[in-house]
Formats: sequence, C-alpha cells, structure tokens
Amino acid sequence: MAQQDMTFELLDIQRCTFSKHEELDAQQERYVEKGNVFLRAFNKRSFLSVVEPTIIYLTDYTKEHFVTQEAFMALHQYPAIENHVVEHNRQVREVARSLKSLLQYKAKENHFAMEALGMTLTMLITDWFEFHILETDTRLNEFIRFEIRKVK
Ligand SMILES: [Fe+2]
Repeated sequence: MAQQDMTFELLDIQRCTFSKHEELDAQQERYVEKGNVFLRAFNKRSFLSVVEPTIIYLTDYTKEHFVTQEAFMALHQYPAIENHVVEHNRQVREVARSLKSLLQYKAKENHFAMEALGMTLTMLITDWFEFHILETDTRLNEFIRFEIRKVK
C-alpha cells in the first residue's frame, strides 16, 4: 500500500483504563487528545504543520508523565517497575531521535524526509498506545487503584 493511501485509526479513549490518580489520568487523556490531533491531520495528508508541535508535546510527555508515573511506582514499590521503566526509556530515545531528525530536516528544508518523519510519528504514537498505554500502563493502573483505595 502506498504511503499516501494509508489511514490510521484514531486512539480510542474508551479502550483506556484509568488509575484514579488525577494527574496520571489527565496526562493519559491528553496523550489521546494530542495523538489524535496528529493522526487526523495525517489521515487528511495535511500533517506537516503538526509534526513539530507533536514532537514537542511528546518530548514533554516523556518527561512529565514518566516522572510522575515512575515516582509513584518507586514510592509504592510496584513489583514490575524495572520493565516498565525500560519501556519508558526506550520511548524517550525514540522521541529524541524524532526530534533530532526534525531539526536536521527543517534546517535542510527536506520535505520528502519530513513526510517520512510523519509516518514514523504515526507508528510511534499508535504503537505506544497499543503496547504501552493499553497493556503496561493498564497493569499499573490496576495496582494504583488498589494502592489509592488502601490509603483512603
Ligand atoms: Fe508508563
């Protein structure tokens, strides 16, 4: 299938689980919202203007959200913290790589490479949703809900 024929399914908030930890849940909702802004633009073939704000958002997300989540896991001695953090660190590297590419392509005004970067971003956004948010974060959310209930 040619790249221009590809459309991506939007991230479905209904598939998410929530932790009842206000800040973490708000960060997750925002990820879905921002991810969908990009995917909608990509599906309409008009994503070039949203590449940069999306990468900036993802960079912030990997800082703020991961820090909040990792602090919670450490504080409550979450048993699967190690693997969870490995996934976070991998995503930090992926987003940093996209940012580096963006800066290079922008400097050279390389539109073809920017199109390819847009494709990379769709994969980054949807794979993270499918394999981290819906799986790894879901397991953590169950733990957090249990811990919060214990405290109350
Ligand atoms: Fe996570």
